Amino acid sequence: MEAKGISQAVIGRLPRYFRYLGELKDEGVERISSQELSELMKVTASQIRQDFNNFGGFGQQGYGYNVEFLYKEIGKILGLDKTHQLIIIGAGNLGQALGNYMNFERRGFLLKGIFDKNPALYGKKVREIEVQPMEVVEEFVRENEVDIAVLTIPKTSAVEVAEVLVANGIKAIWNFAHVDLNVPEGIQVENVHLSDSLMKLSYNLERYSTAQAEKE
Ligand code: NAI
Repeated sequence: MEAKGISQAVIGRLPRYFRYLGELKDEGVERISSQELSELMKVTASQIRQDFNNFGGFGQQGYGYNVEFLYKEIGKILGLDKTHQLIIIGAGNLGQALGNYMNFERRGFLLKGIFDKNPALYGKKVREIEVQPMEVVEEFVRENEVDIAVLTIPKTSAVEVAEVLVANGIKAIWNFAHVDLNVPEGIQVENVHLSDSLMKLSYNLERYSTAQAEKE
């Protein structure tokens, strides 16, 4: 199952398939046709088949896909069959909220440490993990084979902090700071802007309201 040359749009849809299939699996559903999955997920069956064909089609035979198999295969493509060691930089509102969210662990993302530069936060527990000073983060990353860093610090320091983390072995950054990071090739960065999603909502709200007004 090679994911080489597959568009980011397809990759971007895989987590949603994975989520739905996980729910079906938990409900004890063994097989599902692309048509049924299409109705459930409100995407066309041909989109589903096209997406899955990028990975060899996942062996749909007779009546539909084997849910457990498909769930596992998509999980493998997403790298969820392995565990990842993760740290959070910035133990403010967002850092603590993410740290407290247990569901990432279910997917194999293990929170190993949380760091901040504010002494008032040192020792504060986020679940069972104490906030540590930034002075120890480099050694921590090296010794604990941390592969992912979550950046929930202001944009003013994010670029510099990312450089230090990468120099010590961080391979991927989940970046919530509103700034583009300057990382070497091969380091994976996923920028998250919750406001983008809110603006999309605003656009749809606006479009719907306009359409309604035109009808009247
Ligand atoms: P906050 O002020 O509650 O927390 C920020 C924490 O980062 C503080 O505890 C501070 O001491 C620490 N910090 C600052 N510089 C640091 C450094 N160089 N090293 C280590 N720790 C450092 O802010 P909040 O609400 O948690 O937001 C954090 C950042 O995330 C903000 O810059 C905000 O703009 C951004 N944000 C991004 C969102 C997104 O969707 N991308 C959503 C919400 C916030």
